Amino acid sequence: MGQLQGKVALVTGGGSGIGRASALAFAREGAKVVVADLNSDGGNETVRLIGEKSGEAIFFKVDVTASDQVEALIYKAIQTYEHLDCAMNNAGILGKSFNITEWDEEDWDRVIATNLKSVWLCMKYEVFHMGRRGKGAIVNTTSTAGLVASLRNAAYCASKHGLIGLTKATAAAYAKVGIRINALCPGVTDTPLLKGNTVDREKSWKYVEMFVPAGRLGTPEEQAQAALWLLSDASSFVIGHTLTVDGGLVVI
Ligand code: NAI
Repeated sequence: MGQLQGKVALVTGGGSGIGRASALAFAREGAKVVVADLNSDGGNETVRLIGEKSGEAIFFKVDVTASDQVEALIYKAIQTYEHLDCAMNNAGILGKSFNITEWDEEDWDRVIATNLKSVWLCMKYEVFHMGRRGKGAIVNTTSTAGLVASLRNAAYCASKHGLIGLTKATAAAYAKVGIRINALCPGVTDTPLLKGNTVDREKSWKYVEMFVPAGRLGTPEEQAQAALWLLSDASSFVIGHTLTVDGGLVVI
């Protein structure tokens, strides 16, 4: 029997990278998966890949920074599959790489809204529905930039630090209701996100060779395995934890 057999799992940012690998892993473990993303092509492709392996999934286009769209997403997920057991709030962007004097308000707000405010919005509606059934598990994707400094990307760093605080605060508040909330903290992982802005794949490799004890990029599947564990009953006493999956990056 799969680790998420009979469960319904939502993945935001499920149209690419870590979110797609997680959606595939959850489906493989028996979950019906709600794939949510701003990018319809990516989201539909994830659903197709799940279907190819005889899994069940549905795609909803959503901008996770928009409160009405997030509320509608959770409503539609429950209308489709009757309940919601697991959620991975994972959509995120890197944003531009600037010194803080160069940031304009719009860019700053976009990073904070996408990476931090969106997770509050998602959890607002997720815990409401999970709370009515007295059970649920949530994992929020933060970053090693949520643990240590990230040079020239203060907005990303601040959003991911904030997300760890948000995770701890909600985890403590909802544990007695039966909802477990944790954070997944990836290190440098081989996804399209690395192509964004000035952090390209070649630069990532150089960085990885110098700073990551494992000496390689992580794979989206390795992140998915950690997310799966945090959402499964195997981690039933794990609450408010930040699980770092980074090839040893932050230990040195
Ligand atoms: P990705 O770029 O491959 O996937 C992110 C997905 O989020 C995309 O499909 C994108 O369309 C979606 N998205 C972006 N803004 C959205 C919005 N407003 N509404 C709905 N969907 C939206 O990136 P990746 O690497 O899979 O990132 C997933 C999460 O992991 C992010 O939160 C990222 O910050 C985090 N992370 C990634 C690392 C890496 O090295 N790849 C390292 C540490 C954290």
